Amino acid sequence: MLEARNLTKEFDSGTHHLTVLRDVSFQIPQGALVAIVGPSGSGKTTLLGLLAGLDTPSRGAVILDGVDLTAMSEDQRAQLRGQKVGFVFQAFQLIPTLTAQENVQVPLELRGESGAEARAVELLTRVGLRDRLDHFPSQLSGGEQQRVAIARAFVNKPRILFADEPTGNLDGGTGAKIVALLEELNRESGSTVVLVTHDLGLAERTQRIIRLADGVVVEDRATAGAVGGSESTAGGPFSDGRRQTAEVDAADAPGLVAAKERA
Ligand SMILES: Nc1ncnc2c1ncn2[C@@H]1O[C@H](COP(=O)(O)OP(=O)(O)O)[C@@H](O)[C@H]1O
Ligand SMILES: [Mg+2]
Repeated sequence: MLEARNLTKEFDSGTHHLTVLRDVSFQIPQGALVAIVGPSGSGKTTLLGLLAGLDTPSRGAVILDGVDLTAMSEDQRAQLRGQKVGFVFQAFQLIPTLTAQENVQVPLELRGESGAEARAVELLTRVGLRDRLDHFPSQLSGGEQQRVAIARAFVNKPRILFADEPTGNLDGGTGAKIVALLEELNRESGSTVVLVTHDLGLAERTQRIIRLADGVVVEDRATAGAVGGSESTAGGPFSDGRRQTAEVDAADAPGLVAAKERA
C-alpha cells in the first residue's frame, strides 16, 4: 500500500513563494495500476518525485508499506528506492555507451546480484526486444528505447513502479503499446504501477484516474476498465482474481474522498 497523506510542496525562491502541491491525499493498494493526469504544470512530476522518495514534501507524509519515507534520511530513502522502487522517465535516460542488455543489467549489477544476464535477456524478451540485445540506444527507435527503459525499471522486481509520461515522446500507436506493456507487467508481477500521462485515452486503460489541477486532487475515480468494462472478459486484464481488487478499488473511491475530508 502506498499512501499520500496531506502532501504539500512549496518552493521559495527569494521573493517568490509557490505552492505546487496542496494537501494531496490518497491510498493506492498493492498491485494497482493507476494513472495521474492533469495539465502541464499541475504538479504531476513533483508528486511522483515525492511518492518515489526522490524528494521530500514541505508538509505531509508518504507511507510505503507502513514505512514513512518522510521520516527517513536521504541515505535510507536511497536504500529503500533500491529495494522497492522502479522509475521510468519521459526521456528514457538510457546509458548511450551501453547496449540494451547492458542497460537492463546495470541495476542488478549495482546490487551485486548474480544472474543479471539471464534476467536482462528474459525481460528484454518480454518487451519484444530479444533480437536487439546488442544494439545501442542510438540504434533503437523511441518506442524501443522506452521498452528498454521499462525492462530496466522492472529488473529489480520493484514493489512499485513510477512512470512519468513514458509515452510523451512517442506516437499514439507506440504509446498505446507501452501502456499495454506496463499493464501486462503489472498484472504478471503484482508490482503497483503509477503512470503519469496527459493522454486521457491511455489513462482510461488503467484501473483508476487521479486528476490534479493546480496542485490539488480534483478527481479520483475508478475507470470503466476497473469495474468490468469490455476488457474484463476471460483472458483480459482482470481474469486472474485481480478483478476483485479492482472492484474493491472502485467501491472504495468515495471512501477515499471521505477519508480525505476527515483528515
Ligand atoms: N525545483 C523547483 N523550483 C521551483 N518551482 C518548481 C520546481 N519544480 C517544479 N516547480 C514548479 O512546480 C509546478 C509543477 O511542476 P511539475 O510538477 O513539473 O508539473 P507537471 O509535471 O504536472 O507538468 C510548475 O509551476 C513548476 O514550474
Ligand atoms: Mg511533468
